[in-house]
Amino acid sequence: MIDPSIVLPDDASFGPDVQPDYPGYRSTALRVPKRRLETLPEELHALDGPVFGEDALDPLDNDLTAGHAGEPLGERITVSGRLLDGDGRPLRGSLVEIWQANAAGRYHHEVDRHPAPLDPNFTGAGRCLTDDEGRWSFATVKPGAYPWGNHENAWRPAHIHFSVFGRAFEQRLVTQMYFPGDPLLAYDPIFHAVRDPRARETLVAQFDLAGAQPERSLAYDWDIVLGATPVET
Ligand SMILES: [Fe+2]
Repeated sequence: MIDPSIVLPDDASFGPDVQPDYPGYRSTALRVPKRRLETLPEELHALDGPVFGEDALDPLDNDLTAGHAGEPLGERITVSGRLLDGDGRPLRGSLVEIWQANAAGRYHHEVDRHPAPLDPNFTGAGRCLTDDEGRWSFATVKPGAYPWGNHENAWRPAHIHFSVFGRAFEQRLVTQMYFPGDPLLAYDPIFHAVRDPRARETLVAQFDLAGAQPERSLAYDWDIVLGATPVET
């Protein structure tokens, strides 16, 4: 359900091949493409994207609870899934990067002035390569909600930022993963900037009790499918 206080654009103002501007999400006006979007010609699909070798990563780069003097505060979770292409085939050896706020909703970043506590044992960034089945996994803590000043009493739902490269440059994707049952989803203009309700739901991870580690952490599962990102022409 969409909260009625969120301003929705007129559906007639854009077609399926035009990225919608979203009036309720103020800063997106400077980011959204203004011209028609088109898929790149077939011959450009084959251009290789960046390749990262195993030796470029530390084995603990995907454990955001490690690397500090102590354990971070918050609810420990494992977030994992598969990276797939549009035909459901696994994308192997592909770099997946994440960043997030700590359990109190504060980023370890100098421009974050939210007066929630920093956690000396949590920096909030990680990365890994997908395995032969396209699987990736991170150990972390559940991020807290935080205010973001977009409108009166605006709070972001808990989310984790993702950056994936895929196999070719046109598969580059920067997105956000959300948590099921979060009451703030109904009020979030960024979440609702994805207009198709079915597409929007794909941004929400599945709770995965079978993936939980007894006495250690809960788990969420979230698959990422990379199609061809259209570009401005
Ligand atoms: Fe964020």
